[in-house]
Amino acid sequence: MTNKPLVIVTRKLPDAIETRMRELFNTELNLDDTPMSPAQLADAVKRADIIVPTLTDRLDSRIISQAGPQLKLIANFGTGVDHIDVDTALQRGIAVTNTPGVLTEDTADMTMALILAVPRRLAEGVDSLRAGEWKGWSPTWLLGHRIYGKRLGIVGMGRIGQAVARRAKAFGLQIHYHNRRRVGEDIEDALEATYWESLDQMLARMDIISVNCPHTPATFHLLSARRLKLLQPHAYVVNTARGEIIDENALTRMLVAEELAGAGLDVFEHEPAVNPKLLNLPNVVLLPHMGSATIEGRIDMGEKVIINIKTFVDGHTPPDRVIPSML
Ligand code: DGY
Repeated sequence: MTNKPLVIVTRKLPDAIETRMRELFNTELNLDDTPMSPAQLADAVKRADIIVPTLTDRLDSRIISQAGPQLKLIANFGTGVDHIDVDTALQRGIAVTNTPGVLTEDTADMTMALILAVPRRLAEGVDSLRAGEWKGWSPTWLLGHRIYGKRLGIVGMGRIGQAVARRAKAFGLQIHYHNRRRVGEDIEDALEATYWESLDQMLARMDIISVNCPHTPATFHLLSARRLKLLQPHAYVVNTARGEIIDENALTRMLVAEELAGAGLDVFEHEPAVNPKLLNLPNVVLLPHMGSATIEGRIDMGEKVIINIKTFVDGHTPPDRVIPSML
């Protein structure tokens, strides 16, 4: 690869990152930020030495198989890589990197915000004030539920799950978790966390569920219609991971039927589409995939992308190489 590889960036990134990328590489930017169509993505992989996609670009096997022989790296701007067919990329000798770690705290903050917002009816309070409906303090108006002392079940105890647990513990929640692998005793002790090997059994006993695992073929609809039915009617569901992990239609049906107390969702199964029935439910707080949306976080993500590319171009193994068995 030449010293100045052609790097095609699919979306607008923070200015400081774009400037640095232009200094280091032969960089093609997407200044108007319109997501690329499949045809534009196919054209990009035909020409680029390195492509920098985001979660809005579907790099499936059909697109990746059109890549020119010069494409050597997919340096994803983001942690989740469920929009990239990593196996096909690797089979074609294309390395894949992502940006883990730098959005952990921001995403955990947003998770905690939803864990607080839904049971305490924050959105309803804001809406009624804005609508001029507030007649003054009342002993019985807009009563939510106490967070302190409730049981939080975290699905996925990786970096983000643990960061959520640290926050939740400080709020007096009891920490429970389900994970493919049990975490170390030191972590469990520090978080006073209870491990549930059986997700079904955990779901049936929690007050709040927080989804914090990656979306992989194994976690697609992990919270299926059957599993959602295991939840108690007073339970809340919070998801800041990926919409595909929950059967969104089944969740919506249960919320409409008041078989669940509420939900806080930052992610959706068919983004940017949102099930229209969710939009008008009072006991639901919906956010437009904002978990990592801080200036600091997005700059850190961009810096990670640059380090991954620079290391790769210099002939070394990039620090954030995606290895399918680790997902
Ligand atoms: C990611 O990096 O995968 C996040 O979902 C972006 O917010």
